[in-house]
Amino acid sequence: MWTKEGLVELIGEKLRDYRFILVSNREPYVHRYASGQIECTQPASGLTVALDPIMRACGGTWIAHGSGDADWKMVDEQDRVFVPPDDPCFTLRRVRLNPRQEERYYYGLANQALWPLCHIVFTRPVFRPEDWQAYREVNQIFADAVVEEAGDAPTFVFIQDFHFALLPRMLKERNANLIVAQFWHIPWPNPEVLRGFPWKEELLDGLLGNDLLGFHLRFHCQNFLDTVDRILESKVDRERYEITRGGKTTTVRAFPISIDFQRHSATAEAETTEREMKRWRSALGIRDELIGIGIDRIDYTKGICERLHAIDRFLAKYPEYRGRFVFVQVAVPSRSQIPEYKTLEKKLETLVNEINRKYRRWAVRSWRPIILLKRCFPQHSLTALHRLAKFCMVSSLHDGMNLVAKEYVASRVDEDGVLILSDFAGASRELTDALVVNPFSEEESLEAIRQALEMPEDERRKRMRKMRAVVAENNVYRWAGKIISALLKFEFTTSDESHVSFSASGSC
Ligand code: G6P
Repeated sequence: MWTKEGLVELIGEKLRDYRFILVSNREPYVHRYASGQIECTQPASGLTVALDPIMRACGGTWIAHGSGDADWKMVDEQDRVFVPPDDPCFTLRRVRLNPRQEERYYYGLANQALWPLCHIVFTRPVFRPEDWQAYREVNQIFADAVVEEAGDAPTFVFIQDFHFALLPRMLKERNANLIVAQFWHIPWPNPEVLRGFPWKEELLDGLLGNDLLGFHLRFHCQNFLDTVDRILESKVDRERYEITRGGKTTTVRAFPISIDFQRHSATAEAETTEREMKRWRSALGIRDELIGIGIDRIDYTKGICERLHAIDRFLAKYPEYRGRFVFVQVAVPSRSQIPEYKTLEKKLETLVNEINRKYRRWAVRSWRPIILLKRCFPQHSLTALHRLAKFCMVSSLHDGMNLVAKEYVASRVDEDGVLILSDFAGASRELTDALVVNPFSEEESLEAIRQALEMPEDERRKRMRKMRAVVAENNVYRWAGKIISALLKFEFTTSDESHVSFSASGSC
């Protein structure tokens, strides 16, 4: 079983002489002005939530875009700040982007081109040459920051996600004395889909600058191998999951990401959680109603409207639940400058009002079937909400992994509760004791809701125990440990050597 201590030991033993640099677009701690004070918050991002415990364990430097309005008040002359605020143990190096760069690289290329391209949910990607130009420019800005932080020391650079497809190649060209790995947190589509991306050759070539490239699922690795095979001149080795181009080899592997199970479970067991549960009940005006929950960023990939339609049809088909069942949807506003996201936010509000209005005449006391909470909550508060719920519904139309599903399981220290999980979320490969549904089918989803509410206690416990065992074992320290172990197989080049030698092994 991988633990935080085990990871610290591995790093102490093997990485003592190396620098460790992590790169992501989203920063793990954001400083903002609130009522004249500076407050520090953690953003709603599965990526940062998963990586924060790793950086707490490893130390090192996390390079990310400084997006908070008070961020620059908190940094030193090198744009660095020591975090987390309550227990500083790693450096956050903030990168400055101007409004045009943010608009075109983040809102444009990353979130209107690559995001819809990689998630097959029928939202058309938008390809603007100016966005691609800014994406290049920003990847270069991050390359400058990495090269500066690495100096002459042997360094592992661990890049996150689809915001930085060009960065690996840029880094290798600037400093061969770096070992570069990247984890792609979202799905990788099939070659036919990728073929539509106007700058596909450059994108793929950038990614092949990596020594190691990770995806959540073996299926995404296969899609990547197929894509490169179809589009780029290269040698694709399907036995070893390796791609060689221009004499340089990239190893492709599946590493399903996870959470800090122990920390989540400990929070769920804390006395404060009981108090928080009581607070939720009174804030929501809930007595003994059966509660279902959904927790998502407002994103069209999450299938929130599909879920609400299923709840509507569930109440229509099973009227005995009217007045007895409440669904609490936490919906965190996200990427709100993008038209699709703005429209979705409005659509969601309208839909909730419509459904609540429709069932008003059955209202017992002030009952409404859906409570929409449109804001971000701290983790301990969400843990308490998990504990209150008979079931949690994760109905993503397409999702790399989905850590809400794993967090719900980790919070259920009482071994109760049912998880309804989309077949199109990566988590469904591991959490086979969830009620796995096709989120595009309202009928399947509404029947799963009924099954969750009527499932006998012993079956609920049996399923939850099994899922807890899976998440306990496949925790985030295992994820990081496996990636670091794979990285250790690469040797550093020195300036007078011209190749990177490695002996990667293991199955995808
Ligand atoms: C997904 C992406 C992450 C991203 C997160 C939140 O999980 O894979 O890279 O951080 O969404 O989105 P945002 O655009 O707010 O960072």
